[in-house]
Amino acid sequence: MAERRLRLGMLGYGTVGSGAYRMLEDNQASIQAKTGTRIEVARIGVKDAQKPRDLSPEIFTTDLDSIVNDPEIDTIVELIGGTDPAGRLVELALNNGKNVVTANKELMAKHGSRLVHLAKSKRLDLHYEAAVGGGIPLIQPLKHQLAGNDVLKMMGILNGTTNFILTAMQQDGADFAEVLPDAQAKGYAEADPTNDVDGFDTMYKISVLASIAFGRQVAIEEVHREGIRSISKVDMKYADVLGYVIKLLGICEPVGDRVRVRVHPTFLPKTHPLASVNGVYNGLWLHGDFVGDVMFSGRGAGSDPTASAVVGDLIDVARNMAIDGPGSALPYDPDMPTESITTLRSRYYIRIRTLDRPLVLGKIATAMGQRGVSIAAMEMKTIVPHEEGEIVFLTDYATESDFREAVASLTAEVGVSKVHATIRVED
Ligand code: HSE
Repeated sequence: MAERRLRLGMLGYGTVGSGAYRMLEDNQASIQAKTGTRIEVARIGVKDAQKPRDLSPEIFTTDLDSIVNDPEIDTIVELIGGTDPAGRLVELALNNGKNVVTANKELMAKHGSRLVHLAKSKRLDLHYEAAVGGGIPLIQPLKHQLAGNDVLKMMGILNGTTNFILTAMQQDGADFAEVLPDAQAKGYAEADPTNDVDGFDTMYKISVLASIAFGRQVAIEEVHREGIRSISKVDMKYADVLGYVIKLLGICEPVGDRVRVRVHPTFLPKTHPLASVNGVYNGLWLHGDFVGDVMFSGRGAGSDPTASAVVGDLIDVARNMAIDGPGSALPYDPDMPTESITTLRSRYYIRIRTLDRPLVLGKIATAMGQRGVSIAAMEMKTIVPHEEGEIVFLTDYATESDFREAVASLTAEVGVSKVHATIRVED
């Protein structure tokens, strides 16, 4: 019997592409034994074919369309990132009858529903395990083993760069601006760190996970997003004293027949399983109605872990092709109805600078209490005796809109000179 082959066209040969190539080479025998298929990289599309690389130059081309239109290629691995030209090429590949494996979270977060429907209608595979959580299997478990559950809450540390920065701030007692250059020097944070530190990357990833868990695409415009630039070492210290760590979380939860999706720095109890996911590691915790609590963690970025997810997807493609299967794209519809952050009920951390005078504390507590915000814990210190003090509160549960009104009233009514930080608390 002729050897079964899967001929790949790769779009992009950066960190993940070169890792995937190496893994397919290094583990070729075992992958072939598991799938009965020899997976071969036929062509690789790059921006600059002349750049020195570890492979023979003939395999590279700058004509990416020629790969996607090549009748000899049956599967495309898209590792360019972004939506343009990646989106057009993925769509063209599917229309040309090719399976697609992609690591593109932005593309899937913006156009996932349409692309997965297209793949399904063509009886093709469209896999994107590497788009979220690097090497950690998250998407396949959500689509399959956990799919019988109603997901009641999902929280993830989904960005290694920000987790590295927050962990360093916590461990070294350093500020964001001091740690960022180190993260850049180590190759975690990019020269323009916006995508990571302002929460865009986490927003794409939690949107993809929410879309799978709740069966309809969450529009990224509906996701509440805050990054980590405003977190200071002072907040880190108070968090520690109060029994918490600060993590940038992507969170989603059903609210009736809607879903609320948010990305923001969060006070997380030190005992929570996500609290010990440190450095560039990622983690996802979820609570399903039957399975209960489940926790995933591992390396969320980088060449080898992300290659592991890409190659896992290719093995799925090979198995599906071997049985001439109908494709394993699991479609989800667009337009998930979403719930605003303003109706959230949460606890909050707040750090304020205020006058160090009699009655001030009482007035602050009264102003907050009048908006339905009750104080659950407090730390305070004098900065300049009889002049200036710093007060930190942890509130009881309050709605976001009441809390925002209470914060506004502090500066407007009771001599609070500055609200340094407000951070949501998850218990
Ligand atoms: N920039 C991402 C991170 C890796 O820092 O986690 C790619 O998803």
